[in-house]
Formats: sequence, structure tokens, C-alpha cells
Amino acid sequence: MNTIEMTEKYVMKTYNRYPISFVKGQGCYLYDENGREYLDMLAGIAVCNLGHCHPEVSETICKQARELIHTSNLFHIKPQAELAKLICENSFGEKVFFCNSGAEANEGAIKLARRYAFEKGKKGYEIIAFKNSFHGRTFASVSVTGQEKYNEGFGPMLSDVKFAEFNNLDSMKSLVSEKTCGIIVEPVQGEGGIVPATKEFLQGLRKIADEIDAILIFDEVQTGIGRTGKLFAYQHYNVEPDVMTLAKALGNGVPIGAIVTKGKAANVLKPGLHASTFGGNFLATAAGKKVIEIVSQKAFLEEVNDKGNYLREKLTVLQNEFPEVIENIRGKGLMIGAVCKVTCSDIVKKALEKGLIINCTAGNVIRFAPPLIIEKTDIEKGIEILRNVLKEI
Ligand SMILES: Cc1ncc(COP(=O)(O)O)c(C=O)c1O
Repeated sequence: MNTIEMTEKYVMKTYNRYPISFVKGQGCYLYDENGREYLDMLAGIAVCNLGHCHPEVSETICKQARELIHTSNLFHIKPQAELAKLICENSFGEKVFFCNSGAEANEGAIKLARRYAFEKGKKGYEIIAFKNSFHGRTFASVSVTGQEKYNEGFGPMLSDVKFAEFNNLDSMKSLVSEKTCGIIVEPVQGEGGIVPATKEFLQGLRKIADEIDAILIFDEVQTGIGRTGKLFAYQHYNVEPDVMTLAKALGNGVPIGAIVTKGKAANVLKPGLHASTFGGNFLATAAGKKVIEIVSQKAFLEEVNDKGNYLREKLTVLQNEFPEVIENIRGKGLMIGAVCKVTCSDIVKKALEKGLIINCTAGNVIRFAPPLIIEKTDIEKGIEILRNVLKEI
């Protein structure tokens, strides 16, 4: 049986997979079982920000795997402490909790907001989230995800969650009350179609959270780790949350999540209140530390912005060539969406046939989240493949 046949027979069918199985990756390129090369402009959905098998990250993982992988959080873990320090030194953070995924980080952040309200003796436990958001698939994270298709048939969801319009402070104000204990928002909605928040909106949320003493949570699972041209997307906005959740690119492919906190949020979760067996183990945090060391460099982030602008420019040329297909280009850094006038799953499928990996989000938005190390020549190559696809449809 080959990989595809084994997957079909033995793996639970929770994904509609393309009939491709990769065996090797390097930088922005993936290679399938037949040796065919693919240009990866999705990076495992914003995970491999340093490209596939980045030599320094791979070396760090191998070295750590030979020394020590896991002990449990009953003991001190040097790379965990060092990664927490590095994240705090490069962000608003004061204290970090480590876990294994984005959903788990959001789960913990929601628990933190509720526990804060409990300790403060607040009048309620309401969380305000936003329409079209995506925060993960665990119960609390899917309960604050503002897209019905993700929670249909799994109800009842977590109670006391309300959804406001994204980028609309009036809608937010009509829901907020002294019962609100937390607000969770993506600075750029990812699965919702690559929609950046406005500065006014995030600053407004900060003000509201302060007024009612609620915990403001920025979900930076997709936007974090240099994706938008800053180490963390909130740094574009001149607003600091109380809590920021991270995952995806933090380990460049090694599973890791984090809850970054400050001030009133920093000491809410105490011994016995929250935990994670694997969270922050040697292997994952050694990888995370190497990733942050590289991505946090100023010159690296400047290049992300430069290449992001280049990709936008090239996509705008395509938009002008194919105005009947592409309506708008939006995003930040190397998190870019091409909004289409048609559904884009066919475009994505045809691009894959021609050796380009991109993806379709929100039905009609082509998502580009290439490795941040992508070269301009690779961007040109990807654009040329897309141009050929658009000529055919
Ligand atoms: C903004 C955001 N939050 C949370 C998640 C969930 O992360 P994970 O799949 O690691 O649980 C995702 C995944 O796409 C995401 O984009």
C-alpha cells in the first residue's frame, strides 16, 4: 500500500487531501514521492516561516533530541525559561505559559479571562468575540469562533459568548457590559479571509477593556512570528493586549503554543489551575528559541516587509490583467489575500497541478503565506504560475 492508500484506509477522514505525498522539503520548495518540485507559498499554513528544514533549526532540534527531550514541568527546563525570556524581551510580555497548539493557547487564554473575573468578583463571565473569526477546534476555542460551519452539530457551545462585527466598535459597544470578562480578536483575521483590523478598532477595544476591567486577548497564532512584517502583529497598532496567544510558526513545524501575558493577566494562572504535559518541553522550546532568535532580527523583518510589498505589487499587476477574477489585494507583510470575484478552490487546484502551493480561505480569497525567507525570484515564479492558471480559467 502506498501512503495515499494507507491514509484512506487507516487515517480518520477529517481532511480532504490532495493526492500528493511529500517526502522532502528545503527552503520554499517541497518534493513529492516522484521527485516533482513544488513552490510552497503557504508554508504549511503559516507554520514554516523559516522555510522547510531551516539548517539552524534542524540542527538545534537534532542536538536537543540527542541531549534531552522531555522531563515534565515538575522540573525547571532551561530552553523553556530562555524562550520565555526572549519572547518577553521582544514583546509586551512579562510571563509566558507554554502549550502545544493554537487552540490550546486560546483555551488557556479564555480560562485565564474567566478566572480573573472570578477572582475580582465580577458580575459575569461573558466573552466577546468577532464574526468571521477563527480561534481553533477545541470546545472553548470553537465556541469563540465566529463562523457557524465550525460548530454546527457540536452544541451546546460554551455559554456567555457574544459575537460583534469585526472592525466595528459600535457593534462591540452594544454587546459590552460589566458582565464582560474577556475580548478575543485576531489583529488580522486569517481563516476569515485575510482581513486586517483597523488601528481605531484595536485601540477602541483596548479602551473598552480598560473601562470594564476585562482581559483583552490578541490571537496571534497566525499573525505572530514575523508573518506580518513585525515580530508580532500588535506592534503595527500601537496597542498592547493583556494576553497574546501564539503557536503555528513558533516552532517552525515542531508543535508548540504559548500564552503571553502582562500586568493583571500575568499571575492569574497559579499551580493547579492550568497545566499541559508536553507544554514547553526541551525539544519544542529549543526549536522556538532558535526561531525567535532569527525572526526577531531587525534586518530579517525589514526584508519581510520588502518582500511583502513586492508580492503585493506583483499581485496588483495580475489584478489589472484579470479584473474579472481578482477584485482586491489585502493583508500585511507576507500574509496576503487576493480577494476573487469567483470561488477560488479551482484556481488553487490548478496552481497545484502546475507546481504552486497556495490556498483558498473564506471561499473566495487566495491566501499567500510563503516562508518568510522566500526570494523575489521565487515570488516571480509563483506569480507566473498563477498568471498561467488565470489565463486558463
Ligand atoms: C488565528 C488562529 N487561531 C487559532 C488557530 C488554531 O490553531 P491550531 O490549529 O494550532 O490549534 C488557528 C489555526 O489556523 C488560527 O489561524
